[in-house]
Amino acid sequence: MGESTSAGIIGTGSAVPERVLTNFDLEKMVDTSDEWIRTMTGVRERRIAAEGEGCSDYAVRAARVALERAGLEPADIDLIIVATFTADQQLPSTACLVQAALGCVGTPAFDIAAACSGFVYGLATANAFIRSGTYERILVIGADLLSSVTNWTDRTTCVLFGDGAGAAIVAPVENGSGLLAFDLGADGTGADALKIAAGGSKMPITHENLDAHANTISMQGREVFKFAVKVQSDAIERVLDKAGLKTDDLDLVVPHAANMRIIDSAVNRLGLPQDKFYTNLEKYGNTSAASIPIALDEAIQAGKVNKDDTIVTVGFGGGLTWAAGVMKWAY
Ligand code: ACO
Repeated sequence: MGESTSAGIIGTGSAVPERVLTNFDLEKMVDTSDEWIRTMTGVRERRIAAEGEGCSDYAVRAARVALERAGLEPADIDLIIVATFTADQQLPSTACLVQAALGCVGTPAFDIAAACSGFVYGLATANAFIRSGTYERILVIGADLLSSVTNWTDRTTCVLFGDGAGAAIVAPVENGSGLLAFDLGADGTGADALKIAAGGSKMPITHENLDAHANTISMQGREVFKFAVKVQSDAIERVLDKAGLKTDDLDLVVPHAANMRIIDSAVNRLGLPQDKFYTNLEKYGNTSAASIPIALDEAIQAGKVNKDDTIVTVGFGGGLTWAAGVMKWAY
């Protein structure tokens, strides 16, 4: 394998829980309304994992579908990357649990912590490993069970989130095809805008902080909204520029599904038709690292992705982080 080997996605899969939690269900849990949630976010329903299920359960399901579609066995995989901030446990990584479930002992496996940008960070990592000739076939998963870290008494956050996983197999593809460029970034000064304060080394779990819901997501919604609107469009423009492309060249944008108003802001700023943006926010809410690979997988299954299409994936979230990747679809 030479240094300039192009890397691209050769198969995808996704998995979401069966249980549907609608806006009307939430009306019975907190002081909210279907109308407020739809108007302010675009979400109608989300999926919620069953008790006892973990992030790895959905990651493995999504991975098996992606492997089958790529015509590969778990033993063919050289590296497993899982992007998540809702790991099954603090230790070990979810990637190790996925590796054991797939039965490919020995394959290196690690997690990436970049919140909603994690899947695109994972693609960028896989791209670098393949281009350097280190590995050939890499399983990249974005998986999050946000229901496990949601404060179900906080109406400002609990209406936003959902659970699921998406996976992609990244491998060498025809030169000039596949992953073309990335724009990754972070602004750690915004760390407080979106966080789970307790459960780490600085604030281990205590009865007191459990009572204060400090083990769940707290968010400064307005701040994150402003950040997201700006970085989403900026990152798309920068990544296109890096690849020598223009917005007119785009066939499809798969944005992180956080809020329809955030997606609409990019539609307006970039001047692209709405149907060039693919999102399933309405059905699943914000599934963090899983939202892009689930939407990409659905777009492929819906026949919206064709060989040589120019596709941008763009994520933003806790960190604060952002990540955009542009690819020429390889199959
Ligand atoms: N139902 C009814 N009313 C509500 C609800 C609700 N679920 N939530 C908030 N409100 C009320 C507020 O209390 C407030 O009332 P007030 O004016 O009487 O004080 C009013 O609605 C407006 O609230 P704001 O928070 O100011 O509304 P905003 O326009 O900021 O919208 C939202 C809130 C939808 C959360 C928005 O800020 C947002 O989408 N932020 C971005 C979130 C995001 O993108 N996260 C991405 C990363 S996620 C990750 O990394 C895990």
